Amino acid sequence: MIGPMSTPTELVRLRPEHVEAVSAMFEDIAADRTARRFHPHAFDRDNAIRVCSGAGSDLYFGLWVRGKPCGYGMLRGWDEGFDVPSLGIWVSPELRGTGAAKALMSFLHLAARLSGSTRIRLKVHPDNPRAITLYRSFGYRFSERLESDGQMLGMLDLQPGQ
Ligand SMILES: CC(C)(COP(=O)(O)OP(=O)(O)OC[C@H]1O[C@@H](n2cnc3c(N)ncnc32)[C@H](O)[C@@H]1OP(=O)(O)O)[C@@H](O)C(=O)NCCC(=O)NCCS
Repeated sequence: MIGPMSTPTELVRLRPEHVEAVSAMFEDIAADRTARRFHPHAFDRDNAIRVCSGAGSDLYFGLWVRGKPCGYGMLRGWDEGFDVPSLGIWVSPELRGTGAAKALMSFLHLAARLSGSTRIRLKVHPDNPRAITLYRSFGYRFSERLESDGQMLGMLDLQPGQ
């Protein structure tokens, strides 16, 4: 079979043919109690269709492992007219601690740089230490004050190789 099902590990920009697999991944994310603090959008079929449209400048990626999407990464905000994209990331519980999240982060940073961005922003809840540790390891700096939604705002100046 040709496509993301044919290789053991593959990172792909989401396209319309991925809607069914991404809908299933969104069900996994919605059921993942450790991802309660990850809510960039509703994890429903409408959003699976939207992020798999491949339209616009915002970028949505899936990390396929043995035929299944086990990671989700996004750079969004360009379509709304912002210069600095917002990064979001989820990896399945089975992939945590494997380096998959770091690889996905590095790829998202590269994709942002190659799209002309010099900075990235993200938001994270203060009670998500695992994500905060990951982001700090890449050099993200966090504002002292929380945003109105209770999250910390992180910013990264993109450097080659980050
Ligand atoms: C956030 C997420 C992508 C990180 O992926 P991960 O595989 O768990 O991350 P890693 O193991 O590569 O790195 C996490 C770091 O936090 C550390 N860590 C683990 N548990 C921790 C804890 N309770 N407190 C502080 N640090 C912790 C790890 O040791 C690691 O640090 P190291 O690189 O110095 O060893 C993943 O946990 C996830 O998908 N969570 C649910 C969705 C989510 O919260 N997304 C972010 C929303 S802003």
